[in-house]
Amino acid sequence: MNAPASNLQAFDVEAVRAQFPILRREVNGKPLIYLDSGASAQKPLAVIDAMSGLMERSYANVHRGLHTLANETTDAYEAARRGVQGLIHAASPNEVVFTKGTTESINLVAAGLGQSIQPGDEIIVSQMEHHANIVPWHFLRERLGAVLRFVPVTDDGRLDMEAYYALLGPRTRMVALTHMSNVLGTINPAKAIIEAAHSAGVPVLLDGAQGIVHLKVDVLDLDVDFYAFSGHKLYGPTGIGVLYGKAERLAALPPYQGGGEMIGEVSEERITYAAPPHRFEAGTPPIIEAIGLGAAIDWLSGLDRRAVLAHEEALYRRVKTKLEGANWLTEIGQAPGKGAIFSFAVEGAHAHDIAQILDRYGIAVRAGTHCAEPLMRRFALTSSARASFALYNTLEEADAFADALFKARSFFV
Ligand SMILES: Cc1ncc(COP(=O)(O)O)c(C=O)c1O
Repeated sequence: MNAPASNLQAFDVEAVRAQFPILRREVNGKPLIYLDSGASAQKPLAVIDAMSGLMERSYANVHRGLHTLANETTDAYEAARRGVQGLIHAASPNEVVFTKGTTESINLVAAGLGQSIQPGDEIIVSQMEHHANIVPWHFLRERLGAVLRFVPVTDDGRLDMEAYYALLGPRTRMVALTHMSNVLGTINPAKAIIEAAHSAGVPVLLDGAQGIVHLKVDVLDLDVDFYAFSGHKLYGPTGIGVLYGKAERLAALPPYQGGGEMIGEVSEERITYAAPPHRFEAGTPPIIEAIGLGAAIDWLSGLDRRAVLAHEEALYRRVKTKLEGANWLTEIGQAPGKGAIFSFAVEGAHAHDIAQILDRYGIAVRAGTHCAEPLMRRFALTSSARASFALYNTLEEADAFADALFKARSFFV
């Protein structure tokens, strides 16, 4: 997040907000202040219109028809795949697999890897992972005797890189780490992680659920083997996600689910499989959702991404400044260069109560364990509250959030 301050002027937040109809609504008699985009982002008209327009004008199943609607829908679906390819700078659209979301993308890789796991093989994850990047690997531990190695997290919320290097060993089969933490906001040093793993001959999967939203992702430059993300956090719909995989990695991965569209030939005796990405897209895919994601990516490409990141950083800085000196508040995660996620604990108050009080002011934040129980344990917390910022939030909203926190605190003293 090092965009120059001069870009701030280039970003017209009111023009952006005008494209999100939901931001005009009120909650509890107050204008909605939506600070839960880390869980799921709101959708611009471009996405809403693309999806309803498809259903109104040109919808059919993909890859099956010889009729006009099927061809049009297939073209739009494959165009969305190329949109993802462009967004992440993949070498080929065939390296882009559509899934249900980050969770399914990671399960797909873990299940495939599981077919060659031996007892004692090791998977490296970290203490800051979302459960989506822990539980699929636990399956390999429970079912196949794999060993999970957790990279520890420092007090300020960074990955302990020395510990990571030390964990890489002859039994390591996969490094699966988050690009950006959904709780701490930490942006992990992906290149250093990948270079070290590759030196040890180990592939790397990055959980990009947050990273894709807040970072410029270039999978070729990163040289990452797998990159997983969800459409709904990137201003697209739910039910659609992406697994990027290097061509040779996808080619070596066994199919995940069986069904229509993923086969080469089926007889009573044998089956052959289609090449990636179709090998991993069994059954009717989430067509409308994929096209909605394509629309979100097109829409985002019309914005100056550096200006967006500078705007998000300004929001985070504003909250930090407003809350300076609030000694009853602990920010969880203070890694240098972190993204616009503000997780916190209020002395003497449960995170759920804080979230409920903020809701009375129309402010939506998340509270709980954020699907990151090992991380909560690392910081000796049972829960925390989280404000996560998006490109449509304003500095006035950041101020209102900080003011409301002071008011919420007053209920507990
Ligand atoms: C870092 C991270 N990984 C994985 C996920 C899971 O994403 P989904 O539920 O869309 O599959 C999330 C969602 O919050 C996340 O923040």
